Amino acid sequence: MTLTLPTLPRRPRSQGAAQDRGPAPGAWMKPGAPAAGFARQGRDRSRFTLPDLRVSTATASVAYPFLAQAPLTRKGTFLGTNLGTGAPFTFSPFELYRDGIITNPNILVAGEIGSGKTNTTCALTLRSIPLGYKVAAVDAKHDWARFARSYGGVAISIGPGRGNRLNPLDVSDALLRARVDAQGNRIDPAILAKASQLRLLEGLIEIRLERSLRVDERTAVALALEQALHTSGGKPILSDVARALRAPDPLLAAGIARTPDDMLEAGNAARWAFDGLLSTVAKDLFDGPSTTRFDSTAPIVAIDLSDLYNDHANLSIAFTCASAWMESALATPGNGQRFAVYDEAWRVLAHAHGAIDRLQQQFRLARAWGLSNVLVLHNLRDTLNVGDAGSAERNKAESLLALAGTKVIGYQPAKELPGTAAALDLTSAEVDVIANASRGEFLVKLQTTAGVRSYRLRVDLHPNELQWWDTTQGMQRNEPDPSPVAPGAGDADTP
Ligand SMILES: Nc1ncnc2c1ncn2[C@@H]1O[C@H](COP(=O)(O)OP(=O)(O)OP(=O)(O)O)[C@@H](O)[C@H]1O
Ligand SMILES: [Mg+2]
Repeated sequence: MTLTLPTLPRRPRSQGAAQDRGPAPGAWMKPGAPAAGFARQGRDRSRFTLPDLRVSTATASVAYPFLAQAPLTRKGTFLGTNLGTGAPFTFSPFELYRDGIITNPNILVAGEIGSGKTNTTCALTLRSIPLGYKVAAVDAKHDWARFARSYGGVAISIGPGRGNRLNPLDVSDALLRARVDAQGNRIDPAILAKASQLRLLEGLIEIRLERSLRVDERTAVALALEQALHTSGGKPILSDVARALRAPDPLLAAGIARTPDDMLEAGNAARWAFDGLLSTVAKDLFDGPSTTRFDSTAPIVAIDLSDLYNDHANLSIAFTCASAWMESALATPGNGQRFAVYDEAWRVLAHAHGAIDRLQQQFRLARAWGLSNVLVLHNLRDTLNVGDAGSAERNKAESLLALAGTKVIGYQPAKELPGTAAALDLTSAEVDVIANASRGEFLVKLQTTAGVRSYRLRVDLHPNELQWWDTTQGMQRNEPDPSPVAPGAGDADTP
């Protein structure tokens, strides 16, 4: 194979130089352009031109070592062009995991508004559907509901007046029957289910209180869940927990050598928070048995929270409840391998550190359930600015970033660069890449079993994909969605 190495781009000419009678604009860029007859000849570097250098890859790898990484893999989904080599760039967390190249299938996508995060996530996930992978998404915008309908999946819209309700404390029957996880490890489903229900309750209360719970408060919430599980025959809804917080069971309290009054006192703030939740967004949307089920046979299931887009406080609660419901359906053996996409997650994480704990747990469980979580953030400041430096909240947020084995980072403005570089341990060359990235260009940095690798990726979209995934028009248009691949097979909005 032969490589063509273009001559280096020249600096633009200064204004003074522009007054010289030089060659026609652009002429100096052409190999072999005339370089004679100029007043500043010999000092003006823009006059100096060389023809492109053509060498074989064998020679180039010796003459220019360490400039380009070997390809990561040739398997998986085509994403675009490796700008370091010009070769096609393919990627699949599932294939890479199977081949022992990565151990962590989770992905973080970050970039400035409009830098192409959603389209890149589409390229990775929606192009993987024909290869047998499925997609589940929680989205604070309307994008993924539109994609779900277009790709023959199911969209569940959650918002006032939509008529859909999800019980975030649901546990799937398949999980309760399971004895091993997707990797064949033995599990106790009742313990797993209770742990995720407890994390959800703590997360919701922490979002509402805007602080972490104290140990006595955690105990009060854990006991209230135990009581709610008992009174509801194992299928609690949120108001069962609220009732238990208001009237703690004397026997359960005695079991930890406390009185109901002790428990009432410990659960005081949690009770306020919970009652507040149940009198606002959770009341109609999340308190009661689910009105729909997660269709695990659908190629894509999307939960659309766009009705709450501008309501930060309630969006965080809704995002947390909806993700918990989706995750409980995904934490089930035999579900197949799936991408779990959290688009616009930064809107939630920036306002609710209570949501981070839950996501962290979900990221940790990814391998056990054959999932690749894709967390889409805006800039890292949104996530990392929770709490003070060194605080528990800040450490949690930082460790969430560490739980993503692959980072896909698009354009970041200058003020974001130091924070991003520090959080993701970027080299100065990598910082240059994201400082100069155009729309659709990303730095892909990942931890492999052979060390850290990084690539410059241009995500190449087919004109049809550009049209199907056009998020700008989707927000403006008020007409039926096109069905580019298959007509919408299911829609929980219209049961
Ligand atoms: N790789 C690409 N090639 C060409 N155009 C692209 C590419 N990626 C995105 N675009 C264009 O940019 C628009 C915005 O992209 P996208 O919605 O993916 O950005 P985003 O970063 O998710 O934006 P937001 O921050 O608003 O969610 C798309 O509708 C598309 O027209
Ligand atoms: Mg987007």
